Amino acid sequence: MRARALFLFLVLFLAAAFFPVSISTDAIALGASIAGNQTLVSPGGVFQLGFFSPAGADGRRTYLGIWYYNIPGPTVAWVANRQNPLVDSPGVLRLSADGRLVVLDGQNGTVWSSPAPTGNVTASAAARLRDDGNLVLSSDGSGADQSVVWQSFDYPTDTLLPGMRLGVDLRAGITRNITAWRNPSDPSPGDVTFKLVIGGLPQFFLLRGATRLYTSGPWNGEILTGVPYLKSSDFTFKVVWSPDETYYSYSIGASSLRSRLVVDGTAGKLERFVWINGAWSNFWYYPTDPCDNYATCGAFGYCDTAGTTQCNCLPGFQPRSPQQWNLRDGSGGCVRTTNLSCGNGSSGAGDGFWVVNRMKLPEATNATVYAGMTLEQCRQVCLNNCSCRAYAAANVSGGASRGCVIWAVDLLDMRQYTTVVEDVYIRLAQSEIDALNAAANSRGRTSKRVVIAVVATVAGVLLLVAVGCCCVWRRRRKRRQGETDSAAPGGGDDVLPFRARKHAALDEEWRCGEEDVDLPLLDLAVILAATDNFALSNKIGEGGFGPVYMGKLECGQEVAVKRLSRRSMQGAVEFKNEVKLIAKLQHRNLVRLLGCCIDEDERMLLYEYMHNQSLDTFIFDEGKRRLLRWQKRFDIILGIARGLQYLHEDSRFRIIHRDLKASNVLLDRNMVPKISDFGIARMFGGDQTTAHTMKVIGTYGYMSPEYAMDGVFSMKSDIYSFGVLVLEIITGKRNRGFYEAELDLNLLRYAWKLWKEGRGVDLVDEVMDGSFNYSEVLRCIQVALLCVEVQPRNRPLMSSVVMMLASENATVPEPNEPGVNIGKNTSDTESSQGLTANNVTITEIDAR
Ligand SMILES: *[C@@H]1O[C@H](CO)[C@@H](O)[C@H](O)[C@H]1NC(C)=O
Ligand SMILES: *[C@@H]1O[C@H](CO)[C@@H](O)[C@H](O)[C@H]1NC(C)=O
Ligand SMILES: *[C@@H]1O[C@H](CO)[C@@H](O)[C@H](O)[C@H]1NC(C)=O
Ligand SMILES: *[C@@H]1O[C@H](CO)[C@@H](O)[C@H](O)[C@H]1NC(C)=O
Ligand SMILES: *[C@@H]1O[C@H](CO)[C@@H](O)[C@H](O)[C@H]1NC(C)=O
Ligand SMILES: *[C@@H]1O[C@H](CO)[C@@H](O)[C@H](O)[C@H]1NC(C)=O
Ligand SMILES: *[C@@H]1O[C@H](CO)[C@@H](O)[C@H](O)[C@H]1NC(C)=O
Ligand SMILES: *[C@@H]1O[C@H](CO)[C@@H](O)[C@H](O)[C@H]1NC(C)=O
Ligand SMILES: *[C@@H]1O[C@H](CO)[C@@H](O)[C@H](O)[C@H]1NC(C)=O
Repeated sequence: MRARALFLFLVLFLAAAFFPVSISTDAIALGASIAGNQTLVSPGGVFQLGFFSPAGADGRRTYLGIWYYNIPGPTVAWVANRQNPLVDSPGVLRLSADGRLVVLDGQNGTVWSSPAPTGNVTASAAARLRDDGNLVLSSDGSGADQSVVWQSFDYPTDTLLPGMRLGVDLRAGITRNITAWRNPSDPSPGDVTFKLVIGGLPQFFLLRGATRLYTSGPWNGEILTGVPYLKSSDFTFKVVWSPDETYYSYSIGASSLRSRLVVDGTAGKLERFVWINGAWSNFWYYPTDPCDNYATCGAFGYCDTAGTTQCNCLPGFQPRSPQQWNLRDGSGGCVRTTNLSCGNGSSGAGDGFWVVNRMKLPEATNATVYAGMTLEQCRQVCLNNCSCRAYAAANVSGGASRGCVIWAVDLLDMRQYTTVVEDVYIRLAQSEIDALNAAANSRGRTSKRVVIAVVATVAGVLLLVAVGCCCVWRRRRKRRQGETDSAAPGGGDDVLPFRARKHAALDEEWRCGEEDVDLPLLDLAVILAATDNFALSNKIGEGGFGPVYMGKLECGQEVAVKRLSRRSMQGAVEFKNEVKLIAKLQHRNLVRLLGCCIDEDERMLLYEYMHNQSLDTFIFDEGKRRLLRWQKRFDIILGIARGLQYLHEDSRFRIIHRDLKASNVLLDRNMVPKISDFGIARMFGGDQTTAHTMKVIGTYGYMSPEYAMDGVFSMKSDIYSFGVLVLEIITGKRNRGFYEAELDLNLLRYAWKLWKEGRGVDLVDEVMDGSFNYSEVLRCIQVALLCVEVQPRNRPLMSSVVMMLASENATVPEPNEPGVNIGKNTSDTESSQGLTANNVTITEIDAR
């Protein structure tokens, strides 16, 4: 008996010890109340409800609120009496006998109350705080949907929690918006609100008073067209658009992740925070860039951050005020170049449509939606209505009868993205459309030639055609003609002296087996003409293997010419074989080799020209870095990985790059990354079959320890370089040159340290302002750290790297400490290797 009592006591004691909050419950029963510092805590200990006094306030005003349990601050997610604080008075929250939640002050005066329930309330009615942060008053205490009389989620304050709805519920007559606090110590409504505006397509606006700051863009059945990148594995959102109810809500994959969407009244921004490692991290915010500001380019203008000028006029339009426009103020908008004929036959052939794609749809609250129509029907509706300016599909996921939206107002707030968003059909006078078509055709003529060329490619003349159009081909024909016409040296029309020395045999040799790819062999004259005799003004870089010039072939094709250094050159035949081999490597993420030129001891390679130069000019540049948002950086990382995988594993020949670095990754017009300089190491006669080399080719900062110290190279040394490159892209800092003085760490060690401490995201380039996909970033850092492990055998192959990067669900092993060959004290090594600059390739080659 005594033992049982003791046992019971022990159990109670332990229970008390383990649940010190056992006084708090998660519910208030009918007639019960909490007062003063008593609180409710949700069952899983996520949220807490009670009275609080805002930080920074004088402490006299108190509010009933819900905040995160166990997160210091407190971080308040909801406030009941935001307009009527309790002043100098303890508060009481009571579930009154008639089924209302009331907040009473010291004199039993009602400060705040929920509306009286419409249905019957039973004795078991209760208000319960749930783990999602919702305070739910249920008429029978069950919490079942049909018994819910009132819930705090229907009355958001400044915070949208996962599961909350932002919008209108016409049946229940509730409008839900989020409005910023007046200031951090005053929860009363400020002037910045994020809300749904109905009419036309559903669209959400951030407003300061009546001024529109930003809009999500209209909902098109699939996405909010102003946030095309709003997709990630740990975050999903939906927009429900039905006659009864229209709203936005979001959810978080990992339920343990705390996430909130808040209106920041001071900054005039909409921000999403995630609780990470003991702090609120600003996951993303809107408006993010100048193009996000509402209608920044005025009527009929569109914004494009990728363009040279931010504001552009739609096709068929011109700036209303060219002066203002030239001063980079696009707000005046654009006007038609030619008036619409509007079915008035006398002025010509009527009107037509010009399609613009990848668009954030124009502001659509005043647009008209026609459900169930096909796009062709929409076109007719628009043509028949003189005030119609444009149309677009209303529900892109709706199949053939997508319905459409028609704008009979000025087109505002358009923006062009690099990713697929939606097509908009702009109404223009037919004469304007003819003019645009003519312009496109003249551009298209060259591309048509390319189309023919592609057919020819299939027929087998692959690289010849890639050089573009005519010139190489014409050259060669001329030459052959020259050979037959006069074998005499110096014969022919435009022959330079050294053409006389051209080896006839070389040409023969060059045409190898029938199935072999024919690599254009260009005359030095062609290259001299293209590069203006290697004019200094055409020099675009100095690689490890020699200078690079920009050139333009006779036909207009732009090329990059790499003039290989004269030192230690292979024989012509050996060189040609290498070039042919490399020309066969073709991949979207490799710079294409178009041809070569051999003249005496000159060796030159012709590559396609890359308009955006090399990656290092972006990621290490104060200004240009800002242009590389996370999505772009991630695409670049993935592109490089795919290119390298192809070199290592998928090409017919296993190619080890040996000098992968930011300056060897070039970016084309669309910022697609392309690896350059691959295979050149081979041309310098490096023996690829043995694992050791006497020649150290590479760049400090990117060289794996075993390669730098022992000259052992393998695919795994490229993978090490790749890991370094990924960290550089994420941080925007050079591995070599980065030096965390306080901690005495280089970039790799610093990354490792932060990773170990769970602070990996702190590595991310600060210019991204916390706006990035959290899980993608962490995955990239983890993969990068795996790639730079000391032990080559622990580094993953590129195929697994690509898989781990590309797939959200791939399991990524935990990395070990990185291998760092060169600390800060490397001056000895440098001088002995003749290194001159951080990013200059060392090519130490023994004389042949
Ligand atoms: C709650 O308030 C009472 C009286 O104001 C005070 O005695 C008590 O210590 C407080 N409890 C806590 C946990 O702060
Ligand atoms: C407030 O109401 C409670 C119960 O209804 C009562 O006990 C208390 O005396 C009242 N206080 C004042 C100041 O009226
Ligand atoms: C409320 O209760 C009364 C009597 O118990 C019952 O007649 C009535 O139908 C109830 N109303 C609702 C809406 O349930
Ligand atoms: C936000 O919603 C509340 C409640 O529905 C409403 O009173 C308020 O006027 C709304 N604010 C704006 C700016 O629409
Ligand atoms: C175009 O229309 C506007 C107003 O409708 C008119 O003022 C203008 O003269 C017209 N321009 C031409 C070239 O017809
Ligand atoms: C049609 O064009 C004629 C001549 O340009 C003009 O006088 C007339 O007002 C136009 N009609 C309409 C409906 O625009
Ligand atoms: C939309 O229509 C309303 C009411 O007619 C008007 O006040 C508002 O300015 C219009 N908005 C735009 C962007 O045209
Ligand atoms: C033209 O379209 C607008 C907007 O869709 C509509 O308000 C107007 O009634 C239409 N006019 C005619 C003649 O159909
Ligand atoms: C859009 O189309 C999809 C697929 O047909 C349909 O399920 C959805 O209800 C449509 N949405 C609207 C608002 O019509």
